[in-house]
Amino acid sequence: MNMDIAVIRGDGIGPEIVNEAIKVLDAVCEKYGHSINYEHILMGGCSIDATGEPLTDDAVKIAKSKDAVLLGSIGGNTQTSPWYKLPPNLRPEAGLLKIRKELGLFANLRPAYLYPELKDACPLKEEVASKGFDMMMMRELTGGLYFGERYTKEIDGVLTAVDTLTYSENEIRRIAIKGFDIAMKRRKKVTLVDKANVLDSSRLWRKVVDEVAKDYPEVEYGVMLVDNCAMQLVKDPAQFDVVLTENMFGDILSDEASMITGSIGMLPSASLNETKFGLYEPSGGSAPDIAGKNIANPLATILSAAMMLRYTFDLDKEADAIEKAVKTVLEEGYRTIDIAKPGEPQVKCDEMGSLVAQRV
Ligand code: IPM
Ligand code: MG
Repeated sequence: MNMDIAVIRGDGIGPEIVNEAIKVLDAVCEKYGHSINYEHILMGGCSIDATGEPLTDDAVKIAKSKDAVLLGSIGGNTQTSPWYKLPPNLRPEAGLLKIRKELGLFANLRPAYLYPELKDACPLKEEVASKGFDMMMMRELTGGLYFGERYTKEIDGVLTAVDTLTYSENEIRRIAIKGFDIAMKRRKKVTLVDKANVLDSSRLWRKVVDEVAKDYPEVEYGVMLVDNCAMQLVKDPAQFDVVLTENMFGDILSDEASMITGSIGMLPSASLNETKFGLYEPSGGSAPDIAGKNIANPLATILSAAMMLRYTFDLDKEADAIEKAVKTVLEEGYRTIDIAKPGEPQVKCDEMGSLVAQRV
């Protein structure tokens, strides 16, 4: 197969971790007789520096013309970087929100799985960690608070900021259907996470998702309030299969879910629209404090590349090969700094990429 993808290396550790994912993809291509055409585009701080905008319309056009986008990470230190002196719509994160919206990537999949080899890196109690967990965080990605109208103005001499949280039933239904479809291929369980005891938008989510659930009688469906979910994730994460939720709750809960896997450097993600097109990125951020030191964990990005092969290109065998290679490397005891136990030997970012590439 010949795959045509856009690559956004981005800021911070982005370039380092994307290089390793490309290394692994190239190894897959060699072994299985595929080829990939990579076209690099700019987004985030590096795009601001080069063009004055976090994502140009030209870059969007290129991304749209491809089969998929592979992304590292964007953004810098919000306290010290000059990018954060710019108006909010010109900051790095605006580029990420723009590409999600422009490409209609409403479904964000963040699988959180505890590798048995990383149980020691899991911050949960042994009795909880030993049960393991394997969940799919499904976050709505193009609606809600992050895309609602917002402004700050003075009202009666008092500075007041407004953000709005809006969802239409159609936006809810399409991600709910995706969530149940994915559950059918997993352990057939969906937990809708909301704040229906307070928010109207959450009450609409419940109504619509309840309706969708009726079409999936085999799926065990339940609801949970978001504050309780934050608690349950550290108390008993094994109870979750597919966690379906709106944009902001998903943003927060997916960081929590990644942390209990041992490190945010382990969590891949896929952002999908109604077609096979997808944007694939690690769930973690640009980690400017460790950028350029060759110590970042590239596994989340490598696993995101595996998701790309699986979801966009239907190359399950090849995706399995990457996931298995990651598992093997962990079994063999190789660790980047974020997942190493005190005193355990550590490998660098590029070594980790090579180790995985050699094992696909
Ligand atoms: C994420 C990130 C982004 C988000 C930021 C950088 C805008 O935190 O992908 O989770 O909130 O969606
Ligand atoms: Mg986030």
